[in-house]
Amino acid sequence: MKLQTQVGIVGAGPAGLMLAHLLNLEGIESVVIENRSRDYVQERVRAGVLEQGTVDLMIRTGVGERLLRQGLVHKGIEIRFNGEGHRIDLHALTGGRAITIYGQNEVVKDLTETRIASGKPLFFECEDVHVSGFDAEAPRIDFRHSGEGHQVRCDFIAGCDGFHGVCRPSIATGALTIYERTYPFAWLGVLARVAPSSDELIYANHERGFALHSMRSPQLTRLYLQCTVDEDLSAWPDDRIWDELQRRFETRRGWTLRRGPIEQRGVTPMRSFVAEPMQFGRLFLAGDAAHIVPPTGAKGLNLAIADVLVLSKALAEFYSHGSSDALNGYSSTCLARVWKVQRFSWWMTSMLHRFPDETAFDRRRQTAELEYLTSSRAAAQSLAENYVGLPI
Ligand code: FAD
Ligand code: PHB
Repeated sequence: MKLQTQVGIVGAGPAGLMLAHLLNLEGIESVVIENRSRDYVQERVRAGVLEQGTVDLMIRTGVGERLLRQGLVHKGIEIRFNGEGHRIDLHALTGGRAITIYGQNEVVKDLTETRIASGKPLFFECEDVHVSGFDAEAPRIDFRHSGEGHQVRCDFIAGCDGFHGVCRPSIATGALTIYERTYPFAWLGVLARVAPSSDELIYANHERGFALHSMRSPQLTRLYLQCTVDEDLSAWPDDRIWDELQRRFETRRGWTLRRGPIEQRGVTPMRSFVAEPMQFGRLFLAGDAAHIVPPTGAKGLNLAIADVLVLSKALAEFYSHGSSDALNGYSSTCLARVWKVQRFSWWMTSMLHRFPDETAFDRRRQTAELEYLTSSRAAAQSLAENYVGLPI
């Protein structure tokens, strides 16, 4: 089967689906190709914090109806250390901005439904996805679907296929520069069917390691524990997870974590990664395909959305005015913001985790950083403006 379109999109995660949606609003045709099943993509538990800009974009472009009804607007977060909690008032410190708790899988559900309702092509469960011709004028995506070979010819390819996708590795070796840092720890994450124990997120720096209290709804709590990179999940029966979380969130005044049935669990590695430039010929990388941040700043999904907003505008300029200027500037426009978000995510990670090789000096400095953050309006404001999201 042969298809012709303007933009071939590889990956139906937040980046690919949002790009397809934004292009459709601009009257630009696209085909979306995803290697997993619809259920798999929609049930995968990942990020949960939407920046104000992501929320505004979803509402403005007509995919925010359920988000408005079910999203939990949070005006602050808590930083907990030395047995005490300190609230960062995001709202007051940013002139009225906030974050919204709404699962990535819910964003993906909303965007998938919108795509399907538009009647435009979206293929799940594609095999042997292969991109080529983007270094010349003939970009092309080949794949197998329901046992049949398919070929999509397009003007541009958007590589929205995540960190382990095929697009970035298809670019000639030497054309990309990779900047990378791995961290000597991971997160053990659980989703528990129990009401959250706090109205807001809690980021805890504890002697025994980092812990995070988050949520998905008034009935679902999302929790994370710093663990080793090769942590064996089978060594973590439910009671051990709850006991460890309780310890790391403990306060001098006493604080109790609500416990409930654990529905999902997993270990997430921590990495900072940037591939530069985010474009090669007619292939544009967006989201995790181009960069990864450690989850401590809650930025991965939001960065992916920011990239495709820039890309959709550049493509709209190309198709409506024939100008390639914005497309040529895509990588540098995105990277300027990507690096600021990298810095913030690295900083949050460094401030909140225990490092296996840390010295007594490092630990004292970390405590001083936390004390400064929670006692200086200027320091708290810097966290707040990054946390709610830098301008796109
Ligand atoms: P993805 O969501 O990865 O989407 C890429 C899509 O491409 C996927 O659907 C994939 O199946 C598809 N694909 C891959 N290869 C191919 C191929 N060959 N052909 C076709 N399709 C392909 N961020 C946070 O802020 N907080 C978190 O708690 C958090 N937890 C995470 C946990 C895990 C396990 C992972 C991997 C990421 C987590 N992130 C988190 C990061 C956040 O989820 C990502 O930044 C976000 O998903 C990026 O969106 P994306 O669309 O760029 O990539
Ligand atoms: C989440 O709810 O999954 C979450 C929240 C904040 C983070 C990371 C993950 O920094």
